[in-house]
Amino acid sequence: MSAETQEIIRVHGVAHGGHGVGRAEGEGADPRVWLVDGALPGERVTATRLREAKQMIRGRALEILEASPARVTPPCPLAATCGGCSWQHVAADAQIELKRQIVDGQLRHLGVTVRRAVPSPAALGYRRRARLHYTREGGALVIGFHEQRSHAIVDVPSCPVLDGALNHALSRLREIADLLPASGEVAGLSDGERAILGLPGVPPSEAIDLAIRERVLDDVLIGVALRGRRRRHSVGVTSMAIDAAEGQIPMAAGPFVFTQAQAAQNALLVRHVVEAARARGKRVLELFAGAGNFSRELGRHAQGVWTLDDGRESVSYLRGLAEERRLPINAKHGKAELLLPKLARSGKTFDVAVVDPPRRGLGSAASEALAKVASERIVYVACDPSTLARDLKTLVASGFRISDVTIFDFMPMTPEIEVVATLEAVPGARPAER
Ligand SMILES: C[S@@+](CC[C@H](N)C(=O)[O-])C[C@H]1O[C@@H](n2cnc3c(N)ncnc32)[C@H](O)[C@@H]1O
Repeated sequence: MSAETQEIIRVHGVAHGGHGVGRAEGEGADPRVWLVDGALPGERVTATRLREAKQMIRGRALEILEASPARVTPPCPLAATCGGCSWQHVAADAQIELKRQIVDGQLRHLGVTVRRAVPSPAALGYRRRARLHYTREGGALVIGFHEQRSHAIVDVPSCPVLDGALNHALSRLREIADLLPASGEVAGLSDGERAILGLPGVPPSEAIDLAIRERVLDDVLIGVALRGRRRRHSVGVTSMAIDAAEGQIPMAAGPFVFTQAQAAQNALLVRHVVEAARARGKRVLELFAGAGNFSRELGRHAQGVWTLDDGRESVSYLRGLAEERRLPINAKHGKAELLLPKLARSGKTFDVAVVDPPRRGLGSAASEALAKVASERIVYVACDPSTLARDLKTLVASGFRISDVTIFDFMPMTPEIEVVATLEAVPGARPAER
């Protein structure tokens, strides 16, 4: 069958990545499962094939023959081309239920269901951190996200999911198109009122410093951090306190360190993680701590928090925070997959472990080591439910039981999901106790 052939697919579910799961209709239809971009559970669509594997066909919806009640007109005029958000066609209030179904599907084999699904407080204008691409065309800057299934860049004059300050800051960059490389990336961070940009691959020079000061900075875009040819330079203010309005200890950060995508939902996530950790008076190990998002609140209750992150800039922000707030935090730089087996071999334990790895998760060796190192509880914060499911299987086999799974929608209009799994040690079942 040619790649252009259209087939009719009945969609019955949703898979990790946000694709509709279905089967082809009709006599002699291919019996393999379809994963269809742009299709929702309950829909009947025509689809074309993008890729094939032994048991599965990846496709793209072309025409919606029977639409789900959750299907809406995308709020963004660029939704048909821009690859930044793939769920603009899903009603905002239906997105959290689809995310719950995705996580349930990933964790079903472990016998757990999602206990609580926390929708995003806002569906648009929520995003305070983003990384966009740019390229110069003529004298102007094309700046935005990659096109769907392509590396071409869609010019985004104003993005409806970014907050106002970030949109404003990104548009200011167009004023210095003539001084930027032919193509590159820009990282932005906003505190809701003001924003900072980071330009990797842009070596500092007097000319660009002057141009940024004269043509770009204003009351909203307060600084641009340049990095290139092993040199770093700040024009204006390039770090800011975020989350000050959320009733938490504010955290200093810049555009090059990891921060959660939005402030309002992050306040709920931090509160949940701290409650799940039951850290009062305990010795806490926190891996993948970043600039101290959870550490700042864990440190208020715990006897001590030992943190690790492999980003030097994040560790330096966290050390500054601990010192300024006099929190019992010992922040170290290093790789979690190296530290965990070392701790396990030495027999060192912590009452509680909090981990928040990137998409790839922990992996089986680090998960096995974690089960030896954490003696009471593990709070696992994940941004990829499939690697979380893999690691939970190892942790359960190593003497822990899953007591809670809660999901948080940080990124409406996309199928991205943040999942928090809480695990408790089963008495007598951990390898160290056997
Ligand atoms: C998802 S972020 C979480 C950061 C923080 N918990 C937060 O909520 O902002 C993951 C963090 O892990 C760090 N990281 C990535 N790979 C790592 C590794 N192998 N060992 C230690 N830290 C790592 C990154 O620098 C990043 O700060």
